Amino acid sequence: MTSTKRLDQRVALVTGGARGIGAGIAARLAAEGAHVVIADIDEAEAVTMAGTLANTTARHVDIADPSSVASLAASIDGAFGRLDILVNNAAILDATPIADLTMERYRRVLDVNLNGALGVTFAILPLIRRGGAARRILNIASIMGVRGSRDSLAYSTAKGGVVNMTRCLASDLAPDAINVNAICPGFIDTRMALLPDGSGHEHDTDWFKDIYIKYRRIPLARSGKPEDIAGPAYFLCSDDSAYVTGQILLVDGGVSSTF
Ligand SMILES: NC(=O)c1ccc[n+]([C@@H]2O[C@H](COP(=O)([O-])OP(=O)(O)OC[C@H]3O[C@@H](n4cnc5c(N)ncnc54)[C@H](O)[C@@H]3O)[C@@H](O)[C@H]2O)c1
Repeated sequence: MTSTKRLDQRVALVTGGARGIGAGIAARLAAEGAHVVIADIDEAEAVTMAGTLANTTARHVDIADPSSVASLAASIDGAFGRLDILVNNAAILDATPIADLTMERYRRVLDVNLNGALGVTFAILPLIRRGGAARRILNIASIMGVRGSRDSLAYSTAKGGVVNMTRCLASDLAPDAINVNAICPGFIDTRMALLPDGSGHEHDTDWFKDIYIKYRRIPLARSGKPEDIAGPAYFLCSDDSAYVTGQILLVDGGVSSTF
């Protein structure tokens, strides 16, 4: 019997796929038939996550380390000889107040969240050029990349860079038939939403419940789950997005449409 899964025969790489949004995207791509490579700085967690999914393998990578990224590309080349879908998802949060923000900290956040995503893209491009008919790059940015807020200069600047990097790559790679798009998640329930002081989850605080839920600054009146990102991500990695490139899709329960 032939399979009818829509991503059969595709090979996908999801950076930072060991948990959270990346794991949600990896699970969806695998469920649609793709062979998924989860590459994460936390190799143990990546191996555990890959073990729960069909057709999924784990690799170690530090996206901010060019030699680690080169090893990842060589390993995927050896195993598959090509790649169809790259999801640049790995990132770190930074919520340093401006009075405490050093250039060293700023550069570290830019190195991981912006330069890391571009470094992975460059290293993987030769493999995507050998991909099948539907070649896709999906960058996970953030609503912080299209809005400003307090204590987020480094993170938001990096994510704003990811947004415009997406548009430029879409133009540069269109001749190679590679579509490049970005998703900007809103408030999603993952470990990234844990408060830095260890006091719990941002979405469980009284101020969050008041402003965003009770008074509906998030019109859909709830925070998101990784699966809320995985559906739009699947669309942007599938044949259905053949005429979509250079686009920035805000998946945020409507929060960015209010003021
Ligand atoms: N959770 C949110 O509310 C939210 C909102 C907007 C955007 N995002 C973005 O979504 C993406 C996923 O975030 P998440 O919420 O799932 O966070 P998370 O912290 O749960 O997961 C991030 C993953 O990236 C990995 N990682 C971190 N640094 C890495 C590196 N140098 N090399 C390789 N892997 C690395 C981590 O080990 C982890 O598995 C990120 O790009 C984040 O900026 C998240």
